[in-house]
Amino acid sequence: VTRDLPTLVTGRLTLRPFRVADAASVQALAGDVEIYRTTTNIPHPYDDGMAEQWIASRPESFRAGEGVALAMSRTRDDVVVGCVGLTIRPAERQAELGYWVGVPFWHNGYATEAAMALVDYGFAALGIAKVTARHFAGNPKSGRVLQKIGMTREAVLRHYVCKDGVFHDVVVYGVANPADPASRDS
Ligand SMILES: CC(C)(COP(=O)(O)OP(=O)(O)OC[C@H]1O[C@@H](n2cnc3c(N)ncnc32)[C@H](O)[C@@H]1OP(=O)(O)O)[C@@H](O)C(=O)NCCC(=O)NCCS
Repeated sequence: VTRDLPTLVTGRLTLRPFRVADAASVQALAGDVEIYRTTTNIPHPYDDGMAEQWIASRPESFRAGEGVALAMSRTRDDVVVGCVGLTIRPAERQAELGYWVGVPFWHNGYATEAAMALVDYGFAALGIAKVTARHFAGNPKSGRVLQKIGMTREAVLRHYVCKDGVFHDVVVYGVANPADPASRDS
């Protein structure tokens, strides 16, 4: 079965597959050092061609069951404001949630709105049993997003990630799929 990346509609956003035409927006928004500072998988500098290549590889990644990454597009004008994704570990039926919102669009609740919808989709459509997420302790805004979508703070990993020569504490959040019997405590 060939599965195509989904499109999910929320109150203000359309979470849809990225198109090649979005590459310039992705490069400009994700290339901002403010996004690089609190993430671990976004290149900096964000060079020409990187966005095109990343966008082009998303459908295959989804078909391989490795993850789903969607553009947060503002429904009223189709402006791309950010990205939300799940990186999947199929054997464990677990997924790691990630997101960024372009700096001009911060503090509108977009990360919360998008993350909520994608977690629901992961549970309902992808058979995910548990979603985890992690943020640098120095990025409490992201912790607020995770709390607002109903995730629970599970652990703090001290000095867990070394970024540009500085160790960061990492806060781990999780939520089990309430409809999945395998998620009950043993
Ligand atoms: C983290 C990020 C995605 C948040 O996006 P956003 O769309 O502005 O988030 P939201 O508006 O949905 O929610 C942000 C929440 O953080 C709160 N917040 C803002 N500054 C804060 C601070 N210094 N401490 C604690 N909470 C803070 C906001 O008040 C809001 O919560 P509220 O609705 O209860 O008031 C965005 O800042 C970003 O892209 N940062 C860089 C990339 C990144 O860190 N990604 C996550 C990696 S784990």
